[in-house]
Formats: sequence, C-alpha cells, structure tokens
Amino acid sequence: MSSVRKILITSALPYANGPIHLGHLVEYIQTDIWSRFQKQRGHHCIYVCADDAHGTPIMLRAQSEGITPEQLIARISEEHQQDFAGFNIAFDQYHSTHSEENRFYASYIYNQLKANNHISRKTIKQAFDPEKQMFLPDRFIKGTCPKCGALDQYGDNCEVCGATYSPTELKDPKSVVSGATPIEKDSEHLFFELGHFEPMLKEWTQGGHLQTQIANKLSEWFESGLQKWDISRDAPYFGFEIPGEDNKFFYVWLDAPIGYLASFKKYCDQHSINFDDYWAKDSDAELYHFIGKDIVYFHALFFPAMLAGAGFRTPSAIFAHGFLTVDGAKMSKSRGTFIMASTYLKHLNPEYLRYYFATKLNSRIDDLDLNLDDFVQRVNSDLIGKVVNIASRCAGFLVKRFDGRLKETYSDIAFDLYGDFIDKGDEIAALYEKREYGQAMREIMALADKANEYIANTAPWVLAKQEGKDEELHESVSLGINMFRALMIYLAPVLPETANRAWKLLNLDPKKQMWKNASIPLMGQHENRVEKINEFEALLTRVEMIQVEKMLEDSKQTLQAAAPAAEKPATTESVFDPIAPEITIDDFAKIDLRIAKIVNAEAVPEANKLLKLTLDIGLGERQVFAGIKSAYEPEDLIGKLTVMVANLAPRKMRFGLSEGMVLAAGPGGKDLFILNPDEGAQPGMRVK
Ligand code: 2FM
Ligand code: ZN
Repeated sequence: MSSVRKILITSALPYANGPIHLGHLVEYIQTDIWSRFQKQRGHHCIYVCADDAHGTPIMLRAQSEGITPEQLIARISEEHQQDFAGFNIAFDQYHSTHSEENRFYASYIYNQLKANNHISRKTIKQAFDPEKQMFLPDRFIKGTCPKCGALDQYGDNCEVCGATYSPTELKDPKSVVSGATPIEKDSEHLFFELGHFEPMLKEWTQGGHLQTQIANKLSEWFESGLQKWDISRDAPYFGFEIPGEDNKFFYVWLDAPIGYLASFKKYCDQHSINFDDYWAKDSDAELYHFIGKDIVYFHALFFPAMLAGAGFRTPSAIFAHGFLTVDGAKMSKSRGTFIMASTYLKHLNPEYLRYYFATKLNSRIDDLDLNLDDFVQRVNSDLIGKVVNIASRCAGFLVKRFDGRLKETYSDIAFDLYGDFIDKGDEIAALYEKREYGQAMREIMALADKANEYIANTAPWVLAKQEGKDEELHESVSLGINMFRALMIYLAPVLPETANRAWKLLNLDPKKQMWKNASIPLMGQHENRVEKINEFEALLTRVEMIQVEKMLEDSKQTLQAAAPAAEKPATTESVFDPIAPEITIDDFAKIDLRIAKIVNAEAVPEANKLLKLTLDIGLGERQVFAGIKSAYEPEDLIGKLTVMVANLAPRKMRFGLSEGMVLAAGPGGKDLFILNPDEGAQPGMRVK
C-alpha cells in the first residue's frame, strides 16, 4: 500500500454576479469526483473553492440593485453554496476572495513582487465615462465595428466580422453604464513584469505540469513574447486597494487565484493544518487546479510566475477541461438549454447528471455534450437497469428467505467471480486517478453486466420455487449483494448519495467503505461482517423524458439575466478550437461538394478579410463571399479551381448574397490551399 499523499485541489472560483449553471457544473463535478476518490483511497485530500467577488460587473450590478457590493456577494455566495450542495459538491472550504485572508495574501504577494523589482508603472490612455466618472473596461463600451460597420458591438471585438480592435477605434462609442460618449483619459497603471519569468515559465510549462495540448499552445504564446500584465484599476472599483498607492485597486484577476491560498488558509486555521506544508517552496504536498480551457493563460502563466516571484511553490499540475454543449449546440436561453443548477434540481436528481458527466469526462480538453435523449437512456440503462437492479433482485429474497443474513461460505465459482471484481479495482482506480472517468464508468458497467449475467444464469426466482435449493439460492443472492456492494464502492465518488443509501440498505458503516474494503467480501467473522441487511427501498428511480422537457420549459420561463461576460482578454477565449459535435454519415452525405472555377474575384473594400468570388459550377454561376483575403491577391485566384459547398442555404450579408462556401485547408494567413486547374477536374464535378 502506497503511503498517504497530501493533496490540495481547487476548482475555478465562480464570479459572484450570476447563478451557477450546468456549464459550471462540469468542472465542480469533475473535481468533486476526484476529491472523493482520493479520500476513499485513504489519501489526505483537501478541496477548496471560493466566490470570485471583485471587479466592475459586480460593482455595477450591486449599484443597479441598489445594494452594496458586500450585500450582493453575501447573497450570491449563499445561492452558489446552495446550488453546489444540491449537486453534492463536497468542498472542504468555500470562501470568498473578498476576505481578510485574501487581502493579506494579495498584498503580501504584491509587496514581494515589488521588492523583487517585478512591478513597473506606465501611463496609459483609457476610455472614461464622463458622466459616471469611471474608467470603462472594454466590455462596457459598445458601438459600431470600425471594420464592417456592424452596430452594437463590444469595445474589444466584433461578433459579426470577428475583427479585434481597441475601444478607441470603435465608431460612435457609448458607455454601457450611462449611455454617454466615452472620452480618453490618461492614468498611471501598475504592471507585473511577466517577461522576467520567461525562463522559469518555459521550463515549468514544458515540465509535465500541463496537458499536452495546452503545453503546445503555450509554446506559441512564448513565440509571440510575454507582455507585461496590467494589474491595477482606478477607483471606483470593487476590490482591494493596492498598498502604498492612492485610489488604485488590484485588478480582479490578480487576487482571484490568490483566493485559492486564502480559502486554504481559512481551512488551516480551523483544522490546525500548517499552511506552509502546502505552499512553501519545499512543500512535498501535491497541488492541482481544475479549470476551464478559457482561463489557461491566467493559471499557467500569471499565477505560477506570481507564486515563484513571491517565494511560494508552483502547482503540481493544471487540469483543464472543455466546454459544455447541450444537444450539440452552445447552451441557449431561447431553447431552454441554458440550464441553471437550481432549475435542474427542481426537476431531476443530481446523481443523474454526475453520472452522465462522468461517462463523458476524460483527461483532455475536448468539449463535452449533454445529449438529452442519451442522458435519459444512459442513466436508465446503466444505473437503474444494471446497478440498482442487482440489489433489487437479490435483497428481497435475502430478507424474506434468510432473515436478511448473508451466506457465510461460498463455492469456488462464486469466489472466482468475486475475485474478478477485486482484480478490476486497481485498473478502475488508475482510470479515476488519470481523470479518465468515462473509461472508468465503462469498466464498472462491464462488471455490472457480469453480475447481471450471473444472476440471470442462477435465476434466484426459479430457485426460490424449488425444493431443496436453499443453499444455491442463498449463494446467488448473497454473491449478488456482494457484487453490488463492490460496484457501489467503485461508483461512490460519482454517486455519493446513492452509495449512502446502499450502505443503509446493507447496514454498513459508511466510513468503512473505502476503496480497499471492496477486496473483503461481506461474510465471515471479520470487520466487514454484516449482521442483517434491511428491506429493499428504491435507491434511485428511473428518469423520464417528461421531467427533462419540464426542466427545459422551466428554464425558458425563469431565466433571469445570467452572468455577464467575464473579464478576460479576448485572446484566451477561442484558442483551443474544439472539434464540432459529431455528425453521422447521413449528415455528411447531405453536403453537396462540387468543383468550382473561380471566374472572378474582387476585394470587398468594407471587409478586411473578405473576397467576393464568382464561381462557375458547371450549372451556372454562384456568388460567394470568402474570408481568404489575407492569403490571396484577388487576381491570382481567377481561373483556379476550388471545392465549394453547393447546397448551403444562401446567406444575406451586408455586401450582398452569399450562395455557398468555398473550402480551403490550413491555419489561415498565407497557408491556404486552392486546387490548381488540371485536366481531370471540371467545374460541377461532385467531390467524393
Ligand atoms: O472565469 C471565471 O469564472 C473566473 N471567476 C475564474 C477565476 S479562477 C481563479 F483564478 F480564481
Ligand atoms: Zn465587424
């Protein structure tokens, strides 16, 4: 048995300005499963989290509600904790970044960085709301896109043409807060010199602390150079004042990850744990941060650099996950698929979602789809049909025929079968450890299939009617219950509530249902001996599609304003371009791909990326707007062949109708490939 590990884990801190929704829960469920698993393995694992309580959106929301930010964050903290409790997320500590512990560590880290010359100053120009008398973050300015002319675009990028720009370039800009036209104003800001940490970060990011996909992405970021990071904001701002400065506050993203230290400190104070054992440079504890792939920049660059610069240890690893889609698409308020945790809980059991997410989670950063039909089917067929079914088939006979007592001796066949359950334990544990939950669930369900097969073959309901078959009947149902218990031990990190009901049914001490205990069957004279099991009561009920439909309806009705967009640089939002949801061969067959000859190509002066192409597809001409201006002079394209999607519904654009789409491969820029004409390819030919 390996020695006890000291593990500290965190999930990202949710903003205190909006409700928890199913998208958030992917991460909390993923982390909670890991935390429960480590504890069940006998390790010393502490799971901390907190509300991310600072920043402009929170300040403004409190103002609009006519309350103080402190009142707002206190209320939201309660709501968040209630939602998390509803999903059985068992934090060891839930705190707030607006806490004395966090003020202390944010100031301490800043002072250390400053003393070590990692903080600099620079005067920058920023948009300022003359009415509200405040500087405006990019997301609080809206106006007309300077590139394509689309109305009502944010100050940092255009959702229509994808251009990125600074708010000062926006045409006809307006403050979202007051409607006033922002002016430009100078202000001195403080910067963290991230570049000083380049050698350390290069080593750390390539040192096995990150998933491969992320480590690769980071090498690209290094190539474009590490910029210094603006860590101050001017008043009015809801946050911590920067020590030694006048009316300057730490930017919310500076003190957010420090919130991990703060929350843990609070835990230490209440549990007599030494903070330094976990955070000092020479700590032998393991430290893991579970996050979404959109906030990698903060966790894999800024945070380790800040920690190192202030004399703390760096994380053992960052575990990033992908985003949630529902039925293959982004969560949508109009379809009702933007589902809040509290809405879900009104209609469905949290264990269903925990299990479904577990079947879909792995160690990579792929997006994860909640397919609602599949959700219903999987929960019913696996949890009810395979797992709970074992107990319901066996417990009744045991109670009625054997006074609830398990058999004391077993045949070799029965021992061997139980041996298979024990043998699989290490493999399943290794999968949990690697965060390959989907594979772990498949292994567990394969064991459940074995158990059901055994029960079907021994047919206790037949034995029960036959004379002189008591021994056999007793063995069948006792072994069934033992196999059920082993499955519940393996599933307990995912299904804590169901596991607890199972322990009650079997009269077992929950504290003794550790991973290693699965290897000791319930029989004979030892600590695992069970006196008598109880009458069977439903452990988990089937889920019905009607419940899901009601939840969607409820979501549509009750959606209040969800959390406004987070304060993140646009560069981190879509760096990990996900694979789109799976399509079937039938979906693919619907796409009519044709060879097209480019008979004319011209630039669209108002759009920086678009060319207007006239395409001959043998059956007439089509006009297509294609975003390939960066790679080709229009005249070079004339006469070339390309592949086009010929049956795409025409789309009205500002510059005219686009009647299809041309295909090109490559990362963009100059690397973009179009076929050269050759004798074999004729316009209009199908591409297979
Ligand atoms: O992206 C977000 O929702 C942030 N509130 C996460 C902060 S995680 C950590 F750095 F505190
Ligand atoms: Zn635009």
